[in-house]
Amino acid sequence: MTYRAFFELQREPFCADIAHKEILVTPALKGVEDRIHYAIRLGSIALITGEIGSGKSTALRYVVGLLHPSEYRVINVTVSSGSILELYRQILNELGIDMTGISRAVMTKQIKQEILELVLGKKMKAVLVVKEYI
Ligand SMILES: Nc1ncnc2c1ncn2[C@@H]1O[C@H](COP(=O)(O)OP(=O)(O)OP(=O)(O)O)[C@@H](O)[C@H]1O
Ligand SMILES: [Mg+2]
Repeated sequence: MTYRAFFELQREPFCADIAHKEILVTPALKGVEDRIHYAIRLGSIALITGEIGSGKSTALRYVVGLLHPSEYRVINVTVSSGSILELYRQILNELGIDMTGISRAVMTKQIKQEILELVLGKKMKAVLVVKEYI
C-alpha cells in the first residue's frame, strides 16, 4: 500500500504550488497578512523570515494573491547577484518598460515616473516583492 493510499490523500502533499484557495489560513498567516498591510499603509518595508519550510513563501503568496489588481500593482523581483542594476532591470521589466541599453540614471528616472503615474495618476499602490528564492 502506498503512503497516499494509507493516508487517503487525494494527491501528493507538500507541493510548492498549492492552490491559493487551499492554503490553510492559520493565525500565524493572518499575522503576516496584518503586518504586510501595515507596511503597505505606511509605505514601508516588511521582512519575512523564518525556519526552512515554515511557510514564508506560502504566506506571501496568500497575502499578495488577495491584493486587488485594480488597487495594487505588485512588482515581483528575485534577488540574484545582488547588483542594484539587476534589480532596476527586473523592476523595469515587470513594469513592461523596454530598457535595452539605458543607463542607471535613465532607469531610476523611468522607475520613478512609472511609480508616480501609478500612485498619483491611477491612484494605485505599488508593492515591490523581493524574493530570495521561490
Ligand atoms: N498555510 C499553509 N497551508 C497549507 N500548506 C502550507 C501552508 N504553509 C505552508 N504550507 C506548505 O508547507 C510547505 C512549505 O511551505 P513554504 O514553501 O511556504 O515554506 P518556506 O518557509 O517558504 O520554505 P523555504 O525556507 O524552503 O523557502 C509547502 O509544501 C507549502 O505548500
Ligand atoms: Mg520559500
